[in-house]
Amino acid sequence: MSNPPLVLGIETSCDETGIALARGPELLADVTASSMDEHARFGGIVPEVASRAHLEAFEPTLRECVKRAGVELADVDAIAVTAGPGLIGSLTVGAAAAKALALALDVPLYGVNHIIGHIAVDAFVHGPFPEEFLGLVVSGGHSSLMLVRDIARDITQLGATLDDAAGEAFDKVGRLLGLPYPGGPHIDRLSQGGDREAFAFPRGLTGGREAAKYPYDFSFSGLKTAVARVVEGFEDEEGDIPAADIAASFSEAVVEVLVDKTLRAARDHGVDTVVIGGGVSANTRLRELASQRLEPQGLTVRIPPIQYCTDNGAMIAALGAHLVAAGVEPSGLDLAVTSSMALEEITRPGANAP
Ligand code: KG4
Ligand code: ZN
Repeated sequence: MSNPPLVLGIETSCDETGIALARGPELLADVTASSMDEHARFGGIVPEVASRAHLEAFEPTLRECVKRAGVELADVDAIAVTAGPGLIGSLTVGAAAAKALALALDVPLYGVNHIIGHIAVDAFVHGPFPEEFLGLVVSGGHSSLMLVRDIARDITQLGATLDDAAGEAFDKVGRLLGLPYPGGPHIDRLSQGGDREAFAFPRGLTGGREAAKYPYDFSFSGLKTAVARVVEGFEDEEGDIPAADIAASFSEAVVEVLVDKTLRAARDHGVDTVVIGGGVSANTRLRELASQRLEPQGLTVRIPPIQYCTDNGAMIAALGAHLVAAGVEPSGLDLAVTSSMALEEITRPGANAP
């Protein structure tokens, strides 16, 4: 039997230049360069800085990836690149590089959905996906609950964030507590020494009529405002801010909502497996509570190791490998990138597609 196809995955939607090589279901190499250090002092990602950093990092990251995989660039059979959602300038650098490579190597090009990549990457770690499962992606820009019938062809969005994404809430609360950007990992660490019940923060869209109207949607902006009020209260009284307790109580509020809505969606749709991905899935308490609450209900919980939760090239190579295996039509060299992309849109056709 011949070798499964060699797929190159390219991710440049935000501040990480991620490049990976996969041989079918096996990840050969995954290399990431990050420009986060250049953004941290601004308290957020500066798009122009991120674009330029991708331009500088692309070639050395690609070379390193090819070297670690022990293959030749000429052996690549297909290329997958993030087409959206993300920062247009950053996406454009990755897509332009991917097009040049696809043209030079004469191989098909797939422009793929970054959010679906966060789910797809778990197949490298935990094996093939079941026939139908639930996906929860929680990242800096998105909180999305989806029903996956076929990761290459058939995904339905069940719920999304109505305002702030989960990671955005972590980052904003991090700022309120004076923590470096991005706040998520810092709040995670600080929470370990805090009391989860110290503050009764609101659980958005979980009660009464709102829960009935938005069973699978998320809202974290009220929670962020509640945290801001508590912090201001301590500042007004010139007291010490109990940062660890606030961080732990805030994290608990976010994580409980994520896990409870996931459980409800899994029950309603009769699935027995949940795959969780995206930067916030690195969160210690989310990983803990998901297994504590979902597994006793008979659900299998799959969350990739932390290195595959935040943005990386492996997630795009994983989705690319699934698309190639399923025989999905490539995007073509007239691929256009986009800042927003529906979950149902797993790949993007070329701009001139019929
Ligand atoms: O998926 P990702 O790397 O990039 C996007 O596609 O947005 O997610 C980044 C987000 C940031 O908001 C960051 O604060 C959050 O993931 N994050 C965490 C943790 N690690 C990263 N949030 C909570 N706990 C963590 N351990
Ligand atoms: Zn992401």
